[in-house]
Parts: sequence; C-alpha cells; structure tokens
Amino acid sequence: MLTKFKSRIKDRPSMAGSTGKGFPKFLAEPRESFPHGVLVTNPQQSSLAQLTAKCMEYVEENLTHHPAILFRNLPAQTAGDFSIIAREIPGKALTYEGGASFRQRIDENIGTYTANNDPDEISIDPHNEMSYSSVFFFCVKEPADGCGGETPLVKNSDLLSSLDPDIVRRFEEKQLRYVCYLPDKSNAEYMNWQHIFDTDNREVVETIAKEQGRNFTWDPSGDLYIWHNRPAFIHHPVTRKKTWFNQATTHHGSYYRLLPGGDKIQENKYPSHTFYGDGSDIEPAVIQHLLATGWSCAVGFKWRKGDLLVLDNLAVQHGRLGFEGDRKLLVYMTN
Ligand SMILES: [Fe+2]
Repeated sequence: MLTKFKSRIKDRPSMAGSTGKGFPKFLAEPRESFPHGVLVTNPQQSSLAQLTAKCMEYVEENLTHHPAILFRNLPAQTAGDFSIIAREIPGKALTYEGGASFRQRIDENIGTYTANNDPDEISIDPHNEMSYSSVFFFCVKEPADGCGGETPLVKNSDLLSSLDPDIVRRFEEKQLRYVCYLPDKSNAEYMNWQHIFDTDNREVVETIAKEQGRNFTWDPSGDLYIWHNRPAFIHHPVTRKKTWFNQATTHHGSYYRLLPGGDKIQENKYPSHTFYGDGSDIEPAVIQHLLATGWSCAVGFKWRKGDLLVLDNLAVQHGRLGFEGDRKLLVYMTN
C-alpha cells in the first residue's frame, strides 16, 4: 500500500544537523509494518463517521502492537471531513496553547489545528509532542512527487537502543532543563511576556508560573525566563517500557538558527532552549548525536490526500521534511 522511496537528507538545506557527523544519507523507507498501513475497503458503503468509529476500534486493539497506523482510502478530503473524524475519536481533545511551534486553529469547537506553520523549507527533526498520548494527522493536500514534505517516524525504543549509552546516562543523571524566553514589551513588540500572560503585573506572572510548577528569572532589562526541569524518560503507561521522551533537540535554540533572521538571535534569547538539568550547556556534539541518531532511526512515507495517521505519541516520534509547493496536514491531539 505504501510506495517505496528514499529521500536524500544528508547536507539538506534548512535541516538541523544534516551537514554534521553521523547524519544518514537517506530517509529510510517504511519497514516491517511501520507505519502499519490499513486500506479502507468499500468506503462508500458507510458514512465517514461510521467508518471512523470502526477505525478507532481497530486503533484501540492494535496501537500497542502497531504504534503508527496509517488509514488510507477513507471518504475524507477536507478540513470539514477531519472535524467529522475528530468527533469520533475517543479521549479528550487537548489544546495546543503553550506549545513550541506555531499552529493555526482550524475548527474552534473540535480542536483541530494546522500541523505546523514554520516556513515550508525548514525540516523538523523527529520529536514527541509535549504531553499528548495520541496524535492524529490528516492530509488535506499531499506534496507533489520529489517536493519533500514526508513525515519521518521514529520508534522511541529504536532511538533509545541506538543512542550512545554514555550520553543516555548523562541525561538520566542530570535530566533536562527547558527554558522559555519572553522579552519585556519595551524590548519586543510581539511575543512579549505582557502579551503572553495578558498582564503587566509581574506578580501575576510569577503566580501562574508557580502554579504550573515552573521557575522564573527576570533579567535586568525586564525580560523573563521561565524554566523547569524534566526527566529525559517516561515509562510507557501500557507497555511499562522505559522510553526516551523529551524535546532536547526540538526546543534547542539551534533550531531557531534555521528560521529567517535566526542567525541574528543572541544565544540567551532563543524563544526556547534546552540545557542539562544543572543549567550547563548540552554540548553541540551531543545535540548532533541526538539529531543524527533520530534521523538514522526514521522511516518516511509518501502522503496521499485523505490519509489519516494515528500515532501513539508516547512510543513514536514524528517530524517533517521541508517541502516546496503545496502540502497541508492537520493535526488533532488527545490525552
Ligand atoms: Fe510535532
């Protein structure tokens, strides 16, 4: 069901780490039912809602064994169809406020979003979505052949067993620190902390941060750093497997270097940045190792319009190859 193909990724422009050590030459083809393709037969004989309900039963029974399932041939083409699909998905929809990337809300009532609004040419390295358990992608517009836009998928278990054990141990001992930088409005017109928190009162901000279990640091110019430490691992709630689960590379400041004007950002002013939990820098070689290993473990597949991809977000990472031309994916996430 899935077309076999390989996209070259080594030395690819706008892709973090692609010119560095250990980066694979190609994004691998789908393998061993990863992702697990399911062709919907006789799609015209039932309504989209009924078919989706059946697909969700299939997901319920199979997701532990097949943590990435791709449904093809559903009678669905549009954002409106995806709303119908989302309505049939069990579990509570979670909103995306506070996430690292920019998304646009598609359906206010249902909770569907565009997958990512970062510039098309930028590739996004494989990652797990913050704290969601399931992620559903829907293809509204497939990228043309040879134009990129594949979604790389990585099993967290493959990644953990491929990482340098010394580096894994380091993260185990030190954990990770996530820092979010929010300038004062006198220093930045957009995305300043007054705008984000809808207040000029520092005490209000501090109370919210404490409630979220986060720490804060004000710098002399009035800029704000909000930060917290998190383990680099979780235990999967169903399989109980120890799982590499963090955003060490995706939230790392080096990503912003790829964005337009990113080369001008000062090192302490990346919108987000990651450190070891003791506040020390993660060595560039370690970031390179994480990126190169992630892409080495990844498989890609060609999207078709109407595809529905269901991921166990606690077991599978996703990303994006930069693309040219039209390509549109929508996303829905549940707890
Ligand atoms: Fe994502």
